[in-house]
Amino acid sequence: MTASEDMYMLYRGLMLPKETHSLESLQFAQELAFKDEDVVSVTYPKSGTVWMQEILPLVLNGGDLTPIQTTPNWDRVPWLEEKRLAVVVDQMTSPRALVTHFPYNLMPPSFHTSKAKVIYVMRNPKDIVVSSYYFHQMAVFLEDPGTFDEFMGKFLEGRVLFGKWTDHVKSWKHTELGDRIMYITYEEMVQDLPAALRRISDFLGSNLSEETIQKIAEHCSFNTMKENGMSNFSLVNKLYMDFDKSPFLRKGVAGDWKNHFSSEQLARFTSVISKELEGERFSLPWSL
Ligand code: A3P
Repeated sequence: MTASEDMYMLYRGLMLPKETHSLESLQFAQELAFKDEDVVSVTYPKSGTVWMQEILPLVLNGGDLTPIQTTPNWDRVPWLEEKRLAVVVDQMTSPRALVTHFPYNLMPPSFHTSKAKVIYVMRNPKDIVVSSYYFHQMAVFLEDPGTFDEFMGKFLEGRVLFGKWTDHVKSWKHTELGDRIMYITYEEMVQDLPAALRRISDFLGSNLSEETIQKIAEHCSFNTMKENGMSNFSLVNKLYMDFDKSPFLRKGVAGDWKNHFSSEQLARFTSVISKELEGERFSLPWSL
């Protein structure tokens, strides 16, 4: 068995880490009974998932800090597809918030018949590949990424967790969800978090005061989250995440790719991604 067979499983064409996923957890996700009040934040990995695990409980509970100060992010807003969901699902109170990296076609049947809302967070793929590169260095349960150039090659070929970024985005841009789905970008959130929170709050019908929006923005800032032991993964054993290699909450900026891409890598990256998105009706919020 190779290192990667030992670490990853293949599920409907997608590579998933065995540490956090199992056939049982994936079956559990497919059988989950979605409720109309549920909210799901969908992300391709490294697009701001943990950020949404901070934002959603605050927006849904009028800025009450209890969830983010007492419950680890993976239990307060669990991943639909991961093992922890089965452990915590019975204790979750409505409106429930979940996150998922699933592409649209893997969403369970009850999601489609419910009125659950979706917030799709999109991030510039150039920053995703950089963030993911460091994540693979620190997450002991993932294969060593090799050089940045090698890792970029795997990313462009889709030989990474949850497959190709372009497939993920395309799947969520072509849904029949109508006004059940809202799109937001990581960059928008970095640039003006209170404005992003107002959009999220309006979408979810939370009706928050400006004072509450400002309070939530303060608690969801990169620096505050880095200090929050329930959100910075400091509860995770060093055998699983090695913070000497990289923190989980690493830089929290838009445009770090400029510090990592050579001009050849930029040309290759742009060419592959643009080709895969050729003919699409949607446009990207950043130039590639
Ligand atoms: P970087 O590695 O670029 O710093 P995910 O949660 O989907 O795995 O995404 C992780 C990325 O989101 C990391 O990016 C992390 O630092 C960033 N992130 C998490 N919380 C953030 C916040 N409050 N502000 C800005 N970036 C944040």
